Amino acid sequence: MLTIRVRKKKIKVVNFLIFILFVSFIIYMVFFAFFSLPFFNKSFTYNINLSNYKLSNKTTFKTRLLTCKIKEEVNISSSDKLIKKALNKDLTKDGFKLKNDKYVRTIKRFGFCTNEKDKYVKYHKKGYVKYKLKGNDTVKLKYKDNYDEKYITFKINNKTSRNVYISSNLNTNKIGTYLVKYKLNLYKDNNIILYRKIIVYDDEKPVIKLNGEDKITITYGSYYNEEGFSATDNYDGNITNKVIVKDDINTKKNGTYKISYKVSDSSNNVSKVYRTVVVTDEKKVSKSPNVTVKDGITYIDGILIVNKEYSLPKNYNPGVNEEALKNLKQMQADAKAVGLNIPLISGYRSYETQEKLYKKYVLKDGEKNASTYSAKAGNSEHQTGLAFDIGSVDRSFEGTDEAKWISENAHLYGFIVRYPKGKTSVTGYIYEPWHVRYLGKKIAKKVYESKLTLEEYLNIN
Ligand code: DAL
Ligand code: ZN
Repeated sequence: MLTIRVRKKKIKVVNFLIFILFVSFIIYMVFFAFFSLPFFNKSFTYNINLSNYKLSNKTTFKTRLLTCKIKEEVNISSSDKLIKKALNKDLTKDGFKLKNDKYVRTIKRFGFCTNEKDKYVKYHKKGYVKYKLKGNDTVKLKYKDNYDEKYITFKINNKTSRNVYISSNLNTNKIGTYLVKYKLNLYKDNNIILYRKIIVYDDEKPVIKLNGEDKITITYGSYYNEEGFSATDNYDGNITNKVIVKDDINTKKNGTYKISYKVSDSSNNVSKVYRTVVVTDEKKVSKSPNVTVKDGITYIDGILIVNKEYSLPKNYNPGVNEEALKNLKQMQADAKAVGLNIPLISGYRSYETQEKLYKKYVLKDGEKNASTYSAKAGNSEHQTGLAFDIGSVDRSFEGTDEAKWISENAHLYGFIVRYPKGKTSVTGYIYEPWHVRYLGKKIAKKVYESKLTLEEYLNIN
């Protein structure tokens, strides 16, 4: 009986011990599964340090319920908005979410964290790694220059890595700031991204070209005629309309003046050029005219001159000048195109014709009056074949659209209105808005712009 009792007691104790052991095991397993063990709770940190930005990544591993929970916390500090924006985009693409100024993501994998941790250990030795881009973080590149990618590798703890993918939106034909992206694929969804900033700039100055001379001498009291300018830039093209012209010319005061022409391109490269204008007394600039007489015909500075002082020989009969006639026809055609009719009234006249004409006017108006509108034989420009009366020779022609058009455009065809208004004291003739004299385009333009009569222009009045 006793023995039996003892055995029963023994069995009870053994059962109780087994039960305790079992419960302990269950508790242990529950703890193991639910709570991370110190070994699996390691965290790894890597830092990316560039002058543009600093990025630190802290990765923590926790084993729970037979799954590995990897938590990554990324901190970006950068004063560069462009890089910050690009990093933000990349991190968001990789599943990170912004929480309290940190980018956070959690990845879960089946199993304990041992394997995951091993991979991290492999790539981030010692748990603390610094990534650095080779070469400069910021590269300045001249507009249209080629960008040579020399640093296609990363350095990780002084070892050069492979698997680097480079992409960029770089366009060296356009000024701006670009990013070259270097993506190092470590494993699975673990990427390291670095950026290099490329600044495409233009430091070439625009070029200003002045029409005409860069040193001009004008007479006291006369008019300064700006011959114009142009400005071109390697990047912006024609920027003539951006030129700022400044001058303080006072033609009523002798002196040396400077006109400045300044222009800046879209990159703020500035160019400035100057033109010098000397205002001086007429006497000082008036070089004595170069007078040559050939076969009785007078040329001043190479220009055939006929007026009340300089006459032509009786036997000079050149006929109409073909070049002058051709330009006259062009002028008439262009006038017609804008609705104006300027027919030829009188062109080349021989000595005899001029003689008859003048005599007729003397008979009609008396010599004094006639000589204000008609030249004596030998003194008429019509005898050169270079002068034409166009439109109408009536005094009512003054002020008409045709007369106005002739006065404003004749020089474009090589003609000048030979007897301008208010210049009778110089030319000896009344205002003849119809009488044009051919000088060739270059000289006609100069005389036109000088606002002088031909006599004044040649300094022979
Ligand atoms: N009507 C001009 C002056 C001439 O007769 O030549
Ligand atoms: Zn005439």
